[in-house]
Amino acid sequence: MNRIANVKPSLKNDGAVSTSNTGDFRAEVIAGLSAAQKTLPCKYFYDERGAQLFEAICRTPEYYVTRTEMALLQSHAAEIATLAGSSAQLIEFGSGVPTKACVLLDSMKRPAAYVPIDICSASLFAELHNLAVRYPGLAVAPVRADFTRSLRLPEIFGARRRVGFFPGSTIGNFTPEDARAFLRRVAGVLGQEGMLVIGVDMKKNPRILDAAYSDAGGATAAFNLNLLKRINRELKATFDLDAFTHYAHYNEALGRVEMHLYSLAFQSVRVDGHLFSFTPGESIHTENSHKYAPDEFQALAREAGFQPTKLWMDEAKLFSLHCLNVGSIH
Ligand code: AVJ
Repeated sequence: MNRIANVKPSLKNDGAVSTSNTGDFRAEVIAGLSAAQKTLPCKYFYDERGAQLFEAICRTPEYYVTRTEMALLQSHAAEIATLAGSSAQLIEFGSGVPTKACVLLDSMKRPAAYVPIDICSASLFAELHNLAVRYPGLAVAPVRADFTRSLRLPEIFGARRRVGFFPGSTIGNFTPEDARAFLRRVAGVLGQEGMLVIGVDMKKNPRILDAAYSDAGGATAAFNLNLLKRINRELKATFDLDAFTHYAHYNEALGRVEMHLYSLAFQSVRVDGHLFSFTPGESIHTENSHKYAPDEFQALAREAGFQPTKLWMDEAKLFSLHCLNVGSIH
């Protein structure tokens, strides 16, 4: 028998602990556009169209992140599975499509549960039935939540070690301070026996980074602009998509790729009764993608209460895959 969501029926991730409702979206958009340097939270990129556009980015020749990490996972899945042990539960933060998780699940010995936590349900929930069929005995227990706020996990009967999985260098969307705080909370929910498998994009030649976030085919530009389209649709806003342009660059001093949308004109935009003015060349900062040298990331992980156990990189030193154990002395 396949068990879909063999979890405590009391578990709920709605109301106060979930932030994927319109009220928070509106409040965060208005707060971001009211700041001196206008910003929008990057977690809102992933509506249905945004998730598709992100998949398109992953297929561009410039965006090495996904395919490099995938190759690392495939090469080291057996070793990760050994570290995880039998009957482990795989807890994925921000999964989108579970392609990468499947590489681990394929190697794991009798995985007890797969717990994907995601703010956008559409792409994820479509796959869950397939997973239950593909892995008999696996409890599939999706949690629809904004993991930057809520990290409540279901209790899975018969499951052993909690193995966190945070691929794609999504950790880079946090500032280093926020990443440390987030990892500390992750260590808490994974528990003393827990381990974390995390993909982290590396510092490298800025030209490689700039190209990865400004692909020639325009997938990243469409992804960035789709955020304005979403705001127009969901918050009845009046962004003119032709009056903004995508720009991304590696900020070497801060060790991060920044994505912006630049206004091409003097213009005013209405969002739910609020009016925001733009000058030509003024930007909305839409994303940070922090890059870490491996030792830099390990130091950060230690400060968050993890003990680094494994580190793998591709030959070109583009991307790193880390295994961390909870339970160092801190
Ligand atoms: C999925 C957040 C890790 O920062 O590289 C890709 C998102 N933005 N191209 C990244 C993204 C522009 C991606 N993360």
